[in-house]
Amino acid sequence: MKWTGLNDLRESYLKFFESKGCLRHKSFPLVPQNDNSLLLINAGMAPLKPYFTGQDVPPRVRMTTCQKCIRTGDIENVGKTARHGTFFEMLGNFSFGDYFKEEAITWAWEYVTKVLEIPQDRLYVSVYQDDDEAEKIWHEKVGLPMDRIVRMGKEDNFWEAGIDGPCGPCSEIYYDRGEEYGCGKPDCKVGCDCDRYMEFWNLVFTQFERHEDGTYTPLKQKNIDTGMGLERLAALMQGVDSIFDVDTVKAIRDHVCKIAGCEYGKDKKKDVSVRVITDHIRSVTFMASDGVLPSNEGRGYVMRRLLRRAVRHGKLLGINGLFLKDLVKTVVDNSKSEYTELEEKYDYIVKLLSNEEQNFNNTIDRGMNILNGYIEKMTAEGKKVLDGESCFSLSDTYGFPIDLTREILEEKGLSCDEDGFKKALEIQKETARNARGGSKYMGADETVFHKIDKAFTTEFVGYDTLECDAEISFIASDDELLENAGCGDKVYIVSDKTPFYAESGGQVGDIGYITTSTGKCRVTDTKKAVAGKIAHTAEVIEGAIEKGQKAHFEVDGENRRKIMRNHSCAHLLQSALRKVLGEHVHQAGQFVDSARLRFDFAHFSAVAPEELAKIEKIVNQYILAAMPVSMVEMPIDEARKLGAMALFGEKYGERVRVVTMGDASIEFCGGTHVDNTSKIGLFKIVSENSVAAGVRRIEAVTGSGVLELMNEQHKTLSAVADIFKVGNQAELVNKCHAAADEIKALEKEKDRLLGEIASMKSASLIDSAAEVKGVKVIKAVLTSIALDVLRKMAEDIKEKVPNSVVVIASVNGASGNIASACGSEAVAKGAHAGKIVGKVAALTGGKGGGRPDNAMAGIGDSSKAEDAIAQAENIVAEFIK
Ligand code: ALA
Repeated sequence: MKWTGLNDLRESYLKFFESKGCLRHKSFPLVPQNDNSLLLINAGMAPLKPYFTGQDVPPRVRMTTCQKCIRTGDIENVGKTARHGTFFEMLGNFSFGDYFKEEAITWAWEYVTKVLEIPQDRLYVSVYQDDDEAEKIWHEKVGLPMDRIVRMGKEDNFWEAGIDGPCGPCSEIYYDRGEEYGCGKPDCKVGCDCDRYMEFWNLVFTQFERHEDGTYTPLKQKNIDTGMGLERLAALMQGVDSIFDVDTVKAIRDHVCKIAGCEYGKDKKKDVSVRVITDHIRSVTFMASDGVLPSNEGRGYVMRRLLRRAVRHGKLLGINGLFLKDLVKTVVDNSKSEYTELEEKYDYIVKLLSNEEQNFNNTIDRGMNILNGYIEKMTAEGKKVLDGESCFSLSDTYGFPIDLTREILEEKGLSCDEDGFKKALEIQKETARNARGGSKYMGADETVFHKIDKAFTTEFVGYDTLECDAEISFIASDDELLENAGCGDKVYIVSDKTPFYAESGGQVGDIGYITTSTGKCRVTDTKKAVAGKIAHTAEVIEGAIEKGQKAHFEVDGENRRKIMRNHSCAHLLQSALRKVLGEHVHQAGQFVDSARLRFDFAHFSAVAPEELAKIEKIVNQYILAAMPVSMVEMPIDEARKLGAMALFGEKYGERVRVVTMGDASIEFCGGTHVDNTSKIGLFKIVSENSVAAGVRRIEAVTGSGVLELMNEQHKTLSAVADIFKVGNQAELVNKCHAAADEIKALEKEKDRLLGEIASMKSASLIDSAAEVKGVKVIKAVLTSIALDVLRKMAEDIKEKVPNSVVVIASVNGASGNIASACGSEAVAKGAHAGKIVGKVAALTGGKGGGRPDNAMAGIGDSSKAEDAIAQAENIVAEFIK
């Protein structure tokens, strides 16, 4: 066996299984599609689940992949040992009802012994305890002696993931690393916990389907699912002890050491940090390239956590400043030969990760401030333990890592309440679990369309035509297939052929009509159903329809043309955005319907008004240049060579459709488009704002939509002009300025007059003052006095009579207010406006309070105001010394 680099190993494996008739498929993105049971792809078989269960038809019954995987189950152990990692690649070969045990076993053996030339005397296998068939194949077909075949129980040799899904007995291949790795116990053998026998290839005979209730049913077809960790295999082939010593991973490890100025293997504590960073930077780089964005939930949270853990360990190693971006380069360089998206998105990945790293550095600064506050308080109160709630809120609300809290507390001879922290964490986990809700069948929705033969597909002809004749092959309600539908029925219609575009890639489904000799349906939406079927959401509006009838399918052409303008323009917009803002911009989501286009894209700050103006101008230039639009299907490699832009994290087939607009834009796209940019008419941006960290959104209109927008705006302007009685709109701005100035002047005049009124009224009240313990009490119940005036009156009196307490109410229907003010001398004698007004208001069922010299309250029941104010003297008396 000879030393082989990781990238060459991958190639040799995929080539070998290609030679066995397997379709070689590029790794699926890390983000599961149509599967809400998983946050991230964690095995080679995960993206292929519907092919195992027969829900969907695979492109070929034999496939082979090298799948990017992330497993975060044992994240706490990553770094601590040299065995764990979150990111890895899984080599797999798969059969969907095609080859079975014999081929899976003999091919695996052939690859291991003939291609990799691993010496046979180093190899052992295990089989499931009841699997005589597998044992027989190993022994009789492969020729393995019985003492090299071990039977093991369900724990070890029955593979299943999660509570439901395809599963089955498995057989594993082990490599004996030699006695020196063993535990020395007399019963040490395959399956022992020690490091001697290393399991490296898992062959799963996927025969069953596990259900949520723990029962198993046989699958209609027998499948093969195999998995071999590429890094682990590379460690074996390279004669090293851990995945961190494998060539491509070691390159990252060495780079981390270089940045940190340390040497691997010299200091156990530092080694942990080096491994954490090495592993996590791989995970987050790949996640970024598949379009995952750091956030506080779901996979975004996994990404954030990994990134923060890496940064945190960077700090432990004494690294200052941003360092992730340098490491990204090494990750990309070592994996770009297979994962071309890494290089294509390099600038973007660096920007995204650096941005998050910077934010986290700020978070740490902020967290330190809060924690220092806690520590000061603890010291003052003589406490030694920081309560769990505070520790949790530091980590949960402020993102300040708990281990950092622990460490800093420890340095000061303090600690954190671990039980309290765990409790708070449990409560939060429980909440999160409840929020997630129940998982669906195989993670995907089981729909009525699964009842249709999976081999049945709908041909889409709507790129070239907006109408055609086809058969109504199936009619369905939400949960059953129907033979017919009558007037008023809302149903789904599945046909063998259709010109209706089914919603995808952010373009809405078509609307229109389906007509048969006996009835007519209005189509309100069109969606992709499982396995290549297209379902029209329809209502029978005349007569009745029947399954099997011939029908005329006609798309609403005006509506479709509006959609096409918006969709084509979204491509031009992306091109203009990249020109003006930079190459890091790429689509993060879009929605196009007949009314508008909404385009989300990666960018890290608001787009300035002048940039928006530039973007708008460029798009309109593209439109006016009347560029031809071409749409061609081609092999994916060819499309990539042409530099066509693809979506992050999108799974593409072997052939893709490429949409080119002159020299302005070239993109992978399955949508419908105008054939010349001039047909878009005109483009106008309506808004620009933020939708998530690092994602901006532009909404815009095109064609007649711009006219409608202009008409709307013109209408508004005309209405304003009418109000101001200006015939000429150009004059409108001057008129508005003049009006604003006038309003300001009137406000000022109003304030002056209010003051005068208050002063006049208060003068008469002063005359009626009563005397309590040497203080003048001025009280009154007035009607319908504005709040401002009431307040001003109270203040006015207190200024004029320093030895006074004012309590005046104003009743306005069922409610009202009470103002109180105490002059400086009265305050010195113990009067307190806030407390007095509170007590008076309480007598009406109201509430209020304020400063000693000035306060306000609301009246509860205005019929009690007179009696309450009558009590003013008594209440004031309570306060005067
Ligand atoms: N699906 C199997 C595994 O993940 C091969 O081990």
